[in-house]
Amino acid sequence: MTSSGASPLQHDVARLARLVRQHAHTSRLMGVDFVPVYRARTAGAIGQAGLAAEPAQAPEPASLVQPVAAAQSAVRVVVEAKPPRSRDRAEQQARLDELRARYEKDAPHKQFVTAHTKIVFGEGDPAARLVFIGEAPGEEEDRTGRPFVGRSGELLTKMIGGMGLKREDVYICNILKTRPPNNATPTGREIEICEPYLREQVSIIAPRVVVTLGLPASRAILKSDESMTKMRGRWRTYTLIDGGTVDVMPTFHPAYVLRNYTEETRRTVWGDLQMVMKKLEEAGA
Ligand code: URA
Repeated sequence: MTSSGASPLQHDVARLARLVRQHAHTSRLMGVDFVPVYRARTAGAIGQAGLAAEPAQAPEPASLVQPVAAAQSAVRVVVEAKPPRSRDRAEQQARLDELRARYEKDAPHKQFVTAHTKIVFGEGDPAARLVFIGEAPGEEEDRTGRPFVGRSGELLTKMIGGMGLKREDVYICNILKTRPPNNATPTGREIEICEPYLREQVSIIAPRVVVTLGLPASRAILKSDESMTKMRGRWRTYTLIDGGTVDVMPTFHPAYVLRNYTEETRRTVWGDLQMVMKKLEEAGA
């Protein structure tokens, strides 16, 4: 028994219940309204384990109760997914720093027109198991030198939270490291000039999964000219410099989700992210 009078088991169950509630809450923020918070049956089961049960509610139809299992499985990702970190994070960070310095010296963006004040190289865990790749920095990213910190970034941060992770647990970068004039879509030539640096960046991190956000990033990474609708939601492979491979999940860009803020779009993206969570869980990553 602890000072609060609860046994360690009761504490664990309470923590799990908190995580499930948090996950369901985030899912709702993402528009996944079909993952309910604990309803009568589930709350009862937890209550029997010694927890204060949620207020009793009317039983839900089976179709609403079922997704609780999905929320519980997602929680397993949060609780168990502590990857054995055999890799040397400090060394990987040093290699990323060296790459950044080389990028700054080479300044490949000088070969095309930009509207940048800062280079937005990328940020996050240098040994991350999950990397998100967008297209190019926008105004807020250019001002701060950090990727995905504007409106799209807020949504991306929520999406990462919905996966039970924090921004610091993943790595976030873009194909172009400088802001295009009027936030224009990167051209094929711009992508071609910058892609070798991105490839080296991803190769240093060597994640388990890459999520490409939107058409330019997905096409650049997958060397494909397919539409986003064709590409998204299907696993592909990306080959690193050393010949190793990474699973790639293309999904819609958060800016697209914000422009098309329908339940269908949000559910689609959330479905793609759930596949990523499952893959990471299976890989023990
Ligand atoms: N959109 C992107 O593709 N990348 C950012 O960093 C911000 C917005």
